[in-house]
Amino acid sequence: KVIALLTGGTTGEWVISVKSAATIAQNLDTNKFDVYKIMLTQQGWFYEPADSVKVEVDRNDFSINLKGRKITFDGVFIAIHGAPGEDGKLQGYFDMLGLPYTTCDALTSAVTMNKGYTKAIVNGIDQLHIAKSAQIFKGTEYSLEQIKKDLKTPYFVKPNNGGSSIGMTKVNHVSDLQLAVDKAFKEDDQVLIEEFISGREFTVGVVKLDGQITVLPVTEVETAKEFFDFEAKYTPGVATETTPAPIRTETRARVEEIARNVYRKLNCRGVVRIDFILSEDEGDFYFIEINTIPGQTATSFIPQQVAAAGMKLNDFYTKLIRETIG
Ligand code: DAL
Ligand code: MG
Repeated sequence: KVIALLTGGTTGEWVISVKSAATIAQNLDTNKFDVYKIMLTQQGWFYEPADSVKVEVDRNDFSINLKGRKITFDGVFIAIHGAPGEDGKLQGYFDMLGLPYTTCDALTSAVTMNKGYTKAIVNGIDQLHIAKSAQIFKGTEYSLEQIKKDLKTPYFVKPNNGGSSIGMTKVNHVSDLQLAVDKAFKEDDQVLIEEFISGREFTVGVVKLDGQITVLPVTEVETAKEFFDFEAKYTPGVATETTPAPIRTETRARVEEIARNVYRKLNCRGVVRIDFILSEDEGDFYFIEINTIPGQTATSFIPQQVAAAGMKLNDFYTKLIRETIG
């Protein structure tokens, strides 16, 4: 099969996408797949052959022309975190071209990129809790005074359509809310203000392989920083990540069941990763967000969880392609 591996993108997560694509490229079975890595940037969509100059992708049919030879693809492996790979835009484009891809469909990708809308959909899943929150929109009147009355501090303030904690702030005092909102509005036109849930943090990979929804070994994340921010996420040693997480069998079974139900309810495809907090007081699982294109860098959770499941990364990617592309 001829596979286009897409990387780059137009957000601050661009640099993570490049690292994810590097892991995927290294672990795609070259006996089975003929892989072309294609970079999407604001400046254009390019394939860069090792031995010659960059070629621009023909967007009419997503093909490339290599020295007079036209290459078309059997499917697309999307490794772009954030826009336009994780938010449904490329999925809609590939649907129109009839090209299969490795991720959730256009609707699920678009909805799940938006943390506020996703919470509204997963609300009601058995045993799953949702932190109280408010959404505000640039250009639409809102009252931070009202939000301060409605929600208890500390808050998490996030760009609603963000990733990798970019533009996010933990607010301990109401007097710092405005500054945090301004910072989040620099990344997005929508901002989510959530009540902070104190507790242990877990992240759960879920994937459909061989027609079966499978939950990967759960990871616990601990950081000495105020929260699991961009630096803690991508600097080795700043966070402690334990897979499988040291939790009781009952607790693990509960979070696995919740994760499976989130995957089903959102009609996911491919591999996703769902983040939860286990609250300190009640021992309840709170939904934080779902990542439909989870990081695949060498130190990311999914490669760790695949290894903990006793699977080779190249077999995992082969199965993922077989399941989603054919
Ligand atoms: N948004 C980052 C890449 C992740 O979820 O892993
Ligand atoms: Mg994320």
